[in-house]
Amino acid sequence: MVTEQLRRLARRRGQTEVPAGETALSPEDVKLLEQARARQRLEQNFEGFPHRTERIGQHIKTMLGKSGVKGGRILEIGGRANPYKDWFPGFEYSCLDLEITEPGVIQGDITNCPEIESGSFDAIISVDVFEHIREPWLAAPEIVRLLRPGGFTYHSTLFSWRYHPTPVDYWRFTPEAMTFLFKDLRMMQSQFDTVERRRSLLGKGKHKLDSDAFGGWRENWRVFYAGVKNDPDAQRGVSALAALQQAEADQQAARDNPFGTHTDS
Ligand SMILES: C[S@@+](CC[C@H](N)C(=O)[O-])C[C@H]1O[C@@H](n2cnc3c(N)ncnc32)[C@H](O)[C@@H]1O
Repeated sequence: MVTEQLRRLARRRGQTEVPAGETALSPEDVKLLEQARARQRLEQNFEGFPHRTERIGQHIKTMLGKSGVKGGRILEIGGRANPYKDWFPGFEYSCLDLEITEPGVIQGDITNCPEIESGSFDAIISVDVFEHIREPWLAAPEIVRLLRPGGFTYHSTLFSWRYHPTPVDYWRFTPEAMTFLFKDLRMMQSQFDTVERRRSLLGKGKHKLDSDAFGGWRENWRVFYAGVKNDPDAQRGVSALAALQQAEADQQAARDNPFGTHTDS
């Protein structure tokens, strides 16, 4: 890999031969090489993590565990192909989608589903759905309504990603926007997730893109929100305070990217 970078560097300097070694490079070339290595680390960062479905699934489980919700009914919104169907064995899983994407999917619109009783679910999750909801400001209160008091919710969506109509691509979000949409909940965490930030998606999937002079679309920033619905009957006092302190400590520790950065050992 370094040899390839040296070759590119040599080409940029108009040389046809690869320089003998790093020690032969000028300080300016060493700087260029370091920048190339830093870019490469960023581009390959996502490879140090599990695949998206597994990585986010693990994070949902972690946050669910911290919320204290241990079982009951879980609803996945927009779970095209039900990616999390078998992930929560302690829960009875349902999936709601505009389209019947799989057998057993409840067909409905999360911005308006009066057919589903209030407080029906202990947990409600979605991954890569909020950017596809036409009126997300109506979806959030509907999710809050469907949650039982003390219930948990988690949503992973996008701040910066290429256009991908599935079936329609409407929005991008900041963590603050998600917190605002769920202002009636107690926020556990609302953060950027930059694990795939410089991952190359050129030519991937059905929305293929051609490279341009800048290398094509390369800023992939996700956002996630986790929160719980207030429970007026919850135990007050020491345990409530401990839960609040724990949430604040988690928030502090997570900083910009709770998934951290992968570094080669
Ligand atoms: C990109 S796909 C989701 C992919 C899937 N969650 C995954 O992780 O692979 C977005 C889904 O959200 C659904 N959707 C969009 N708006 C919706 C709404 N208002 N109510 C329910 N589902 C909706 C779409 O039909 C689609 O199946």
